[in-house]
Parts: sequence; structure tokens; C-alpha cells
Amino acid sequence: MTGEGPLDLSESQALRRRAVAVDATLAYEGYVLARDRLVDGAYPLYGERASGAHIWDVDGNRYLDLILAYGTIILGHADPVVSEAVLREIRDGFAITLRKRVQVELAELLTTVIPHAEKVFLLKTGSDATSAAVRLSRVHTGRTRVIRWGYNGWHDWCATRPGGVPTEAQAVVDSFDYNDLDSLRAAFERHPGEVACLLMMPFEVDPPAPGFLAGAAELAHEHGALFVLDEMRSGFRVAPGGAQERYDVRADLVTFSKAMANGYPISALVGREEVMRAVGEVHISSTFHVNGAEMAAAVATISQLRDGAILTHVERLGERLQAGLAKQLAEHGLPGRVLGVPQMPFLRFTDPDEAARGRAHDAFYTETTRRGLLLHPNHHWYVCGAMTDEDVDAALEATAAGFRAAEAAAHG
Ligand SMILES: Cc1ncc(COP(=O)(O)O)c(C=O)c1O
Repeated sequence: MTGEGPLDLSESQALRRRAVAVDATLAYEGYVLARDRLVDGAYPLYGERASGAHIWDVDGNRYLDLILAYGTIILGHADPVVSEAVLREIRDGFAITLRKRVQVELAELLTTVIPHAEKVFLLKTGSDATSAAVRLSRVHTGRTRVIRWGYNGWHDWCATRPGGVPTEAQAVVDSFDYNDLDSLRAAFERHPGEVACLLMMPFEVDPPAPGFLAGAAELAHEHGALFVLDEMRSGFRVAPGGAQERYDVRADLVTFSKAMANGYPISALVGREEVMRAVGEVHISSTFHVNGAEMAAAVATISQLRDGAILTHVERLGERLQAGLAKQLAEHGLPGRVLGVPQMPFLRFTDPDEAARGRAHDAFYTETTRRGLLLHPNHHWYVCGAMTDEDVDAALEATAAGFRAAEAAAHG
């Protein structure tokens, strides 16, 4: 863990000054997503390398990483088995016009591990997969409207900012309150017979209430719509078979990406044969569809996850972290809550005094970063398989210091 003094972030800041001139993501006020905003000046901006549960920034500071590239890392950074599988593909040529053998192997693996998956369509990004799911649902049902929940990507139908999006694209999309079946029912009843699919993350920060996901699936089917689970974050994290396995629910279509290939860019739409058949009637395409390197990464990742042992370890460490955080929070008497499923924990400061809450929040995340613990201040965290009990101890030492700093700042 990094020491107590302020971090040397000079190289990160020098790179940022250069980037502002040329990098569109930095050149404008704000960030791509509002919640990606970190505590200004406290966080490293550029990384040099990563291994296991740790990353090193360009100034040489080491961090225990609980952001994990927004959940794409499940085994640990630079997992040697995955790296070797990718290198083999690279040496053999991974973009050779023809489909590669590994495409069949990956599809077979996905249909074995994912409950009810009969057919697989491999894509590159999460937005590819969710948008493909919407298109297939529309063809399958002959309807247009969508009910969605959570973050589902950046394409027109689900963009979270209005800029550049035709209003018609989102006029056919509704949402509802999570864990509230009445609110979902009302969304269906506003447009009877018009909804092609209910597409939703199984959960984000709050876990699903007992029966909620099965109830949502049932409502969708009652209204003649497909039930689509967006498992970009929960997939290959809450169970080898994802939320369907974990929460005993069945979806018509499911989308995966992120942890599926331990960081390599690939996504998958899987589902019932009868629904996937609509692939023949829609336009879904991408130049890089048949590239083998990321498919090899996915096979190497899923093969390690499928017996469940790594995910059990991840869950146990997440539980330890959450229990430790809850204890520390109570000891400091700071208004706050430990949230999330253990594999994706989060902490929320809840002081009703907004200024005091902001000071506690910024002080906590500044202090934990300074002590070599990389936590996202505005987005749930992730735990990976390379993390150890000693890492949890170190994380809790850093959060203890973070709470001390938060308490001082809240009262300051
Ligand atoms: C639940 C969920 N769905 C869809 C997406 C979109 O994936 P991508 O950014 O790869 O397009 C994300 C990305 O964070 C996600 O978390």
C-alpha cells in the first residue's frame, strides 16, 4: 500500500495537460458519463501496468484495484492463462477472414454454462449486444416499444443524455422503478400490446427483492413481450451462469460482456433458438466479429470460472469487505450505508447536510486513494479472484483511515 503523504501524480497530470489538446474525452467540460467523475486532483489518471489485484500508475504508485476496469476484470489483471491463450491466437493470426475454430468452442461453452442458452451471437461491445437484443425482440414480436431499466449502453434507444438523439428514438422507450412490480405493470399497461421486450439489468446497487425478477419475467410474458436480462455486470460474476442461475429466473435473451473475457472486447447475445432465429431478418454486423483473440480470452476466462470456486472466493472476500466497512462506519458514527451484492460492494454517505456529505465523501476517497486503494466514488466497486484475505485487510486499513479523514472533514 502507498504511504500516508500526498501522492505524487505529476506524470499523470503532465499527460492530462497534453491530452486536453487532442483527446476529445478530456477536451470538453465534464466526462463522458456524469458518474465517472472522480475526486478532482486526488486520483491517478494514467496507468502503466497491472498484475493480479493491483495496478501501477505512470508515477509508480501501486493500488489495490476495486474498479477493475468497470468490472471487465474478474480473474485478476493480466491473468497468465488468458494472456497465453490470446498470445497463441496472435501468433497464429487472429483476423484471417474465416471464422476460427475458437468461435465454435466459445459458442459451445456458452450454451453449456449459461442456463437456457441455445444459440449464441458474438459481438464486440455491450451496446452491440443490448441493441441487437432489442432488434431481435422487435422482429420476434412485431412490436416496437421497449421497457428498460438500468444502464444499457449508449445507442439512441438508451442514451442517458439527450444530445444528438432523435426524440422519436426514446419516445418508444419506457422505464420503471426497480424492485417495484406495480410500477412495471403500469409501464406495460400504458401501451397494451405494443411492448416488444422488457430489457433490464438484474440489479445495480440494490439486490433484487425475493421474487422480483421472476415477477418481472412473468409480467413481460403476460403482456406478450420478451424478457431480456442485461448481464454485462452480473454475468460471470454472481455465478458461472449469471443472474439466471443465481436468482433462479429464466430470460428469453441474455446479454454478456465485461467479465466474460477478463478485459478483452467481446460481447454475446444468447437465447432461445426460437427467438434467436430472427437473426436472419435483422441487420447486425461488425467488421471485427470473427476476430479470434478475444474469443480465446473468453474461452480461457470462462473455463477457469465454470466450476464456481473463483466466484465463491470473490463473494466471500466481498462479504468480508462489506462487514468490515459496516463496522467502521458504525464506529465513526458517520451517516452512511454499505450497499451492493458482495461481488460488487459500494458505500454511500447519507448525511442530509449536503455540504457535510460532500466533504466526507471527498475526504474518504482522497485518503483511500492516497493509501493505495482504488475505489470508485460514484459507481459500485468490483472484487476479483486474484484478491486475497491480506488484500481485504489492507483495504480495511485504508478505509479506516478514510473514515477518520471523512469524520474530520464532515465536522470541519
Ligand atoms: C449493464 C450494462 N449494459 C450495457 C453496457 C454497455 O456496454 P458497452 O460500454 O461495452 O457498450 C454497460 C457498460 O457499462 C453495462 O454496464
